[in-house]
Amino acid sequence: MEPTASPTSPPGSARPGDAPPGAAAWARGLVKTYGQGETAVRALDGVDVDFRSAELTAIMGPSGSGKSTLMHCLAGLDAPTSGSVVIGGTEVSRLSQRRLTALRRTRIGFVFQSYNLVPTLTAAENITLPLDIARVPVDRAWFEEVVSAVGLGDRLHHRPSELSGGQQQRVACARALVSRPSVVFADEPTGNLDSRSSAEVLGFLRRSVDELGQTVVMVTHDPRAASYAHRVLFLTDGRITADLSAPTRRDILDALGQAEED
Ligand SMILES: Nc1ncnc2c1ncn2[C@@H]1O[C@H](COP(=O)(O)OP(=O)(O)OP(=O)(O)O)[C@@H](O)[C@H]1O
Ligand SMILES: [Mg+2]
Repeated sequence: MEPTASPTSPPGSARPGDAPPGAAAWARGLVKTYGQGETAVRALDGVDVDFRSAELTAIMGPSGSGKSTLMHCLAGLDAPTSGSVVIGGTEVSRLSQRRLTALRRTRIGFVFQSYNLVPTLTAAENITLPLDIARVPVDRAWFEEVVSAVGLGDRLHHRPSELSGGQQQRVACARALVSRPSVVFADEPTGNLDSRSSAEVLGFLRRSVDELGQTVVMVTHDPRAASYAHRVLFLTDGRITADLSAPTRRDILDALGQAEED
């Protein structure tokens, strides 16, 4: 059996009362193992991380380094093998399935590489869907602000098949933001987009931080995308191996070169 984190013994425990100053979300001692015995993969190997409020953090690292696993464990889409996660003052790992689902719909936003919009609904209906399912009223003034920031005003009544890839991903971003979540997690949000659409989506994510005070954590392979971030973390073999503040594209390329040489 895997050892589990004791609720009282750091490292490996994040308690809502121990919030690091200014952190919107944080994790302690995150370990995720897939499979058992000789074929077991340790996708996360003890991650301690804080995400400051109203910052855009990018996560980079080689394929298989654990980026998606980290995002899924942070967002409560997957359970860590041990360790804990606190989002907006709530310890995610201690919630019942029902409370976790409610938290995901209202306190956490997630943007996937493949937009994941419902094809039969309009853009506007897609944006409010999580709140509609959770029976939480939509704050109309905030909805208008998000829609205006995302630049979709005249496309709101179109279905996804009538929108470009960049527009569809901006709908997905608006859907992630409309509940005013504690954190928006985006896993390669520009992975399917051309450079112009990527710039639109990244510009919006950055504005959501600078102008709306949103906290965003984004996985990307693209140094240009990462250069939109206030901070860039590097994962290697399930561990955080570098943490850069406001890096330029050059700084990011240098850090990636370093990671390849190690
Ligand atoms: N459901 C799963 N079952 C078994 N192994 C898994 C599962 N999901 C991920 N893994 C393994 O965990 C490791 C980390 O995977 P993860 O998807 O987090 O990597 P990543 O950094 O997101 O990679 P990429 O850049 O290719 O998306 C990999 O070795 C992967 O094969
Ligand atoms: Mg991935």
